[in-house]
Parts: sequence; C-alpha cells; structure tokens
Amino acid sequence: MVKEIVSSSRLSYAGYIRLSSILSSQVPLSPREDIGVWATERYFIVCHQISELLASQILADLKYAAQLISSHQNWGTVRTLLVRAASLALQFYQQSEQLACLCPQHAFLKFRTLLEGASASESKQFRELLNISTGDHPHRKTVERALLSRMDSFSTVPSGVVTQHESEAWSIAEALSVLTNAITIWRELHIVITAHFIAGSRGTGGTAGVEYLLRRMQASGGGADPKDVGNDPSFSSGSFETFCGMSVKNINSKAQVLNERVRLLQPAFEGKMGNYFTQAKAI
Ligand code: HEM
Repeated sequence: MVKEIVSSSRLSYAGYIRLSSILSSQVPLSPREDIGVWATERYFIVCHQISELLASQILADLKYAAQLISSHQNWGTVRTLLVRAASLALQFYQQSEQLACLCPQHAFLKFRTLLEGASASESKQFRELLNISTGDHPHRKTVERALLSRMDSFSTVPSGVVTQHESEAWSIAEALSVLTNAITIWRELHIVITAHFIAGSRGTGGTAGVEYLLRRMQASGGGADPKDVGNDPSFSSGSFETFCGMSVKNINSKAQVLNERVRLLQPAFEGKMGNYFTQAKAI
C-alpha cells in the first residue's frame, strides 16, 4: 500500500489523484512465488488499465466536444478537445504496441489459463471506441453534422484567405479523422498482437480468436457482442484468404516483425531481471 502524504490542513497530491486506489488495483491471479509469470501478468493488467484510462478521457473529450458543437458554442474549445482526443487515441495505439514487451510468451500463455471467460472484448469503453471508428457513435455523428452544416456556409470558390471559422472547422475535421484512423490502425495492430501470442487458438471470450477478429474487421463491426457474433453463421469458422486488405500472409509477416522485436527485447529483459525468465521458460 502506498503511504500517502496526508495533511489535515490541505489536500495532498496522493489524495487528490486517488493514488492509493490506483496503485492497489493490480492484482495478478498467478501465485507470487512464480515471479516471472506474476510480473508479466501484472504488466498485462497495467497495460489494460492504462488503455481503459486513455479510453475514458477520449470518450469524455468527445462528449464535451459534441455538447459544445451542438449548441454552437466556442468552436476553438471544440478544436482543443478533439485535438487532445486524437492525440490520446494515438497514445492508445502506442500503449498496445508495448504489449511486445509482454515476454516471454510462455509466461503469458501460463497466466492466460487463469482468465476463464474474461476478455477485453467485454469492455464497454473499448466497444465505444470501435463504434467511433466505424462511424456508429452518437457524439461522432453530432460533431460531423455540425461540421457539415458549417462547411455548407463556406464559400465554394477558394479565395486564398481562410477565415478563422474555416480554419477551426478544418482543424476539427482533421482531428476527428486522426482520432478515427488511430482506432482503425489499433484494430490492425491488435490482430497482429493476437496472432503473435495465441496464433490459431480460441480467445478467452470463446471466439475463434484471430479469425474472429479478421471477420469483425471485414464486417467493420463496432459494437456487436462477441457472443452474439459467435452465433451468427456468417462468422463461423472456415477457410479464409483475405480480409479488408489484410491477407493472412500480410498478418503473418507483421507478426514476424513483432516476433523479431520481442526476440531483440527479450535478452535485455533477461539481463535486467536475472534468470527469472530463463527459469519460467524451463518450466
Ligand atoms: C496479448 C494480448 C491480447 C490478446 C492475445 C488478445 C486477444 C483477443 C481475442 C482472441 C479477442 C476475440 C474475443 C475473445 O474470444 O476473447 C479479442 C477481442 C478484443 N480485444 Fe484483445 N487481446 C489482447 C490485448 C488487448 C488489449 C491490450 C486491448 C485493449 C487495449 C484489447 C481489446 C480488445 C477488444 C476491444 C476486443 C473486441 C474486438 C472486436 O469485437 O472487434 N485486447 N482480443
């Protein structure tokens, strides 16, 4: 437990950001004695917690932006909120890239058996992000509608002089596009990561794993419940070659790049962490 600096006369830093609850929320299921696996599971939990925090801020910023823009208030603030949401979405992507450090793979496969049916596909916030990227999200629609109506009023003949209103509208459109594209490329990365870690195995949520995710991308699915999708015959297992521009070969080669990064990183970790990983691998 973190020792908080509590002062009776003023709010402490730790109290203000609720540090104690944040830092006591990493609870791996693996036994602590199996330190290589335990430490890797803790890292896995932290990665998901950071992603949930980033998602919550993206969703909050998009919500406030939609509120302001629908009441035609302060487009400068709308721009600020959406630029920040876009930047957070890029961090969301980069955060998942850090899963390359979830090595050794053996440790992941070991604690994964403890997860029962738990899967990040159950996350309401992640589902909302997917809906934003597919266009099926009320706040994205609100912002787009307001943008379109404002752009209609712009001169169709470029005068060479961009008004402040035009410049704000274009920045907002650009930020929205970065936000949605970042989530789309996150989806691709997530498939590559999944292929690397579990190859052809089923997901903890009970789906066909990589094949399920590829089919979801092909259908551009955002908010469907994976359990419902699992019952849909069009998502049933079968042979497949290409989906949404990503061929299986393409995914395999991306997974190889990730494998290579993991291979290069692993000795550095092993050097720092003594022989924990070597022991874990030997089990
Ligand atoms: C080693 C890491 C990971 C693996 C092996 C993995 C694997 C999977 C699999 C197999 C599924 C399909 C559902 C199921 O059967 O469970 C899935 C879905 C999903 N995962 Fe992951 N995942 C990983 C990390 C993450 C992370 C870090 C996030 C979020 C930041 C995430 C978010 C999601 C979401 C949102 C879905 C639903 C996707 C959709 O329905 O299109 N996953 N994951």
